[in-house]
Amino acid sequence: MQNILGKPMDRVDGRLKVTGAAKYAAEFGVNNPAYGFLVMSTIAKGRITAIDTREAEKQTGVIRVFTHLNAPKLAFAAAKAKDPLAPPDGQPFHALTGDQIYFSNQPIALVAAETYEQARYAARLVNVSYAEEKPATNMKTSGATQYVAKSSDPPETAEQKSRPRGDAAKAFQAAPVKFEAEYTIPIEHQNPIELQASIAFWQDGKLVIFDKTQAVMTLRNYLAAAFGIAEADVLVISPFVGGAFGMSLRPNQTPALAAMAARELKRPVKLVLTRRQSFTTSGYRPQTWQKVSLGADNKGKLSAIIHENMTNTSSYEDYSENTVSVARMTYACPNVSLDYKVVKTDLPTPSAMRAPGAVSKMFALECALDELAHQLKVDPIELRLINYAEVDPDNGKPWTSKELRAAYRQAADKFGWSKRNPEPRSMRDGKLLVGWGMATAIWGAFQMPSSIRIAVSADGTALAQASASDMGPGTYTVITMIAAEHLGMPIEKVKFELGRSDFPPAPHQGGSWTTASVGAAAVGAARLIRNKLVELANKQANSPFKNATADQLQFENGKVSLKSNPAQTLSYSEILRGNNLPEIVETYEAKPSPEREKYATATHGAQFVEVKVDPDLGTVRVTRIVEATACGKVMNLKTSHSQEMGGAVWGIGMALHEATEIDHRYGRMTNASLADYHVPVNADIFKIETDFVEEDDKIVNELGVKGMGEVGMIGIPAAIANAVFHATGRRIRELPITPDKLL
Ligand code: MOS
Repeated sequence: MQNILGKPMDRVDGRLKVTGAAKYAAEFGVNNPAYGFLVMSTIAKGRITAIDTREAEKQTGVIRVFTHLNAPKLAFAAAKAKDPLAPPDGQPFHALTGDQIYFSNQPIALVAAETYEQARYAARLVNVSYAEEKPATNMKTSGATQYVAKSSDPPETAEQKSRPRGDAAKAFQAAPVKFEAEYTIPIEHQNPIELQASIAFWQDGKLVIFDKTQAVMTLRNYLAAAFGIAEADVLVISPFVGGAFGMSLRPNQTPALAAMAARELKRPVKLVLTRRQSFTTSGYRPQTWQKVSLGADNKGKLSAIIHENMTNTSSYEDYSENTVSVARMTYACPNVSLDYKVVKTDLPTPSAMRAPGAVSKMFALECALDELAHQLKVDPIELRLINYAEVDPDNGKPWTSKELRAAYRQAADKFGWSKRNPEPRSMRDGKLLVGWGMATAIWGAFQMPSSIRIAVSADGTALAQASASDMGPGTYTVITMIAAEHLGMPIEKVKFELGRSDFPPAPHQGGSWTTASVGAAAVGAARLIRNKLVELANKQANSPFKNATADQLQFENGKVSLKSNPAQTLSYSEILRGNNLPEIVETYEAKPSPEREKYATATHGAQFVEVKVDPDLGTVRVTRIVEATACGKVMNLKTSHSQEMGGAVWGIGMALHEATEIDHRYGRMTNASLADYHVPVNADIFKIETDFVEEDDKIVNELGVKGMGEVGMIGIPAAIANAVFHATGRRIRELPITPDKLL
């Protein structure tokens, strides 16, 4: 054991990032690129009746204007099968494949020119005539007649998992204490700093593409299918991603467009979107309406939860957030029904956005629980403990680990919860109203099949490679740490590379599963390497390890030794040189263990918030957040804290700032820029303390890792709304909580 894991470790790619040496998709240099710029629709629904590109094509530098009339057809039906996140119902939207307009700001033409400026200028001169229809973009008004039954979905979806438990309607009727309320969340956008970008070129019938993606292998397979070429003939390169948060899980519009144009023009094509274009080309968190009905006894023991959920989708795909069902695992209530409906709107298809489904669902459930606690005059933590799920309430399976009770205690102590006066408007700081609120967070503990290749060289270095992504959480660093620990090598000697489709397959980066998945592969590959080293050592006549079993040996600092005689060592370099080998290479695929099936798995968090509200202005400041997260073993303490802090900040954004505004007359997103779309800035962020309650989980995987990227934000919006109620006595059930709603 080298004890690398669990310590705080700086990012191995930190220096590259802060010095600008890390290259993002749009920054790769290629010879003689043509620059693309998209033309977007100005109507939200209807048909293109004419598209006149003559004026645009006359402009200096313009090479060609692609529209649905002249763009070659790609095999998108085959490509759909390669996108594991494509909703089963409907057809994904593909730009330039027809005259139909499905949403405002829809890509309808691609101008290619010698420079970006020429392409952008000419794009304004493309003349489009439409047969316009009236769009329906308001879920509330378009919903009543357009509910979509989802019974045809495969069993993995939320709807299928949401089979009722017990008889919630009957139990609710019979309950001595009832609570019922509706909650709404507007559309929100991921808005990472890096914009969607692709650079594509063809070489001897093979496609090379630099793309911003969370899913290197998905994109490779998708493009191969779309262009009818072998998967091995597509090389996706995506070493750095400047934030994505779900918007780059599914293939975006740019890679197929750039590759198509590059093939037609026989030269590289670079296509970078503007912020406004990004708002309608890679999804968003859908608009949500929820109704929660709670039935309980006088002490707060829940007997019924009826949780109705409605989100919007596009007119062409039935997107649903199939992670909403985690909420039903949270409390030991015998009667639960979870209803999920999607409503077709004339907007693009939504997509995953950090903690998809769960954060929305827990906003409603955790606010409702707070309201019930207030009604019953029971402490909010106490109410949660009364209903604590000792086993998975759906199937009675034991948890692989669940330290949520300890997390409540730890966070409450640190926060000083015992000093809370439960009476709303009872606590003040000068003229400011002080409110304390809390909520539970829950997310899955997922693992996906993943491979990795590790090569250990005679020069004493190791190189690990997997087609994983790192959109910012610190995957480069954590996999380097895990590989170094299990190889028994100094961390400076180990390098991890990711983001190429010619590396061994790894899952897309989502669901907070990358460390568990790729990490497990690294552990397996390192074990193969260690075995190989011993085998090679023993081929040498003078091996000190003859007849030794693996557990009698130790691997540290690039050397093998007997535990019983650590002074006598053989370095990996000596072993390799002794066998005349330049390197040893092992590839390993890790899969989730079947043992997991006997258990329920989840990560949990206890999240506490202090707000200060100006009673005259209605402004809310989140002055303190304390989180305790129970997510198995922590690999890198530093980046893990960063993940939880990022989640907390995002929770503040969701609670107080974020909303994509739509002018329903035109079906158009009106605040599609970082100037107009509000997110928290430094002045909005005060003290955030993030702690972990370690869980010794032997079942989830060998590393005991459960994941932490998403759980950190899941209770925060509810905790803030609960704190605002405590401060002001006003319950705001409609996010974001802006001053106008409080005054
Ligand atoms: Mo995330 S929304 O799992 O990319």
